[in-house]
Amino acid sequence: MSGRKLFVGGNWKMNLTVAEAHALTRAVASGLAGRGQVEVAVFPSFVHLAEVGSVLHKVPGNIVKLGAQDFYTQANGAFTGEVSLAQLKDLGVQVVLAGHSERRHVLGESDGLVNAKVRAALAAGLEVILCVGEKLEQREAGMTDQINVAQTVYGLAGVGRTQMAKITIAYEPVWAIGTGKNATPQDAQQAHVAIRRALAALYDETVAAATRIQYGGSMKGSNARELIAQKDVDGGLIGGPRSRPRSSWPL
Ligand code: 13P
Repeated sequence: MSGRKLFVGGNWKMNLTVAEAHALTRAVASGLAGRGQVEVAVFPSFVHLAEVGSVLHKVPGNIVKLGAQDFYTQANGAFTGEVSLAQLKDLGVQVVLAGHSERRHVLGESDGLVNAKVRAALAAGLEVILCVGEKLEQREAGMTDQINVAQTVYGLAGVGRTQMAKITIAYEPVWAIGTGKNATPQDAQQAHVAIRRALAALYDETVAAATRIQYGGSMKGSNARELIAQKDVDGGLIGGPRSRPRSSWPL
């Protein structure tokens, strides 16, 4: 046993109406009753954070953390369309994503911006899931570990050893996201080991052993157990729900 508590996140992306978000939050919370061995967070759209937060607030024991998919690094000001960390905290957000592949590769976020976001969120006292992952052509060129290690190192630049307690890494191979093609458990394990070695080199073995590394990319009920059974896979970051029926979620 690694001693790392499993951590599963639901990234709802740009999906759901208010009523659907409300219903899904209730379903997740009731499905988790008595499953205290797993830490869970949900990442609704900004427009649903207040509603989802109000549902979670009524669930005893803070069993599901409220997460945000994105944020801006500045404290406040004239940044049309952006949302600040203070605004998210005001709604009860405890954890944020940074470096998700859709933000890197669809919205064009650089490693520099991802790192600025990681540091801003930590400075605001929030937990961060730093997402990394290689594209298909990078995997085919044998660059999987190189890309994941580079994104991990850039993403964590300036993050101190003690701050690592608030960091989770999510390994999400870009070619596996939303495609129905997941990494094999062996490939995921190998990528996670490379990331964990990078953490040991950046910090030390203690930090590397304590940091959770989630797998994300077409994780579902039929493959979650086998993926999570790998020694270095400490949970999952799961997309949807429109891409797959909720009944196929692992939780
Ligand atoms: P899918 O589970 O839809 O592949 O998405 C994974 C993901 O991007 C989670 O952040």
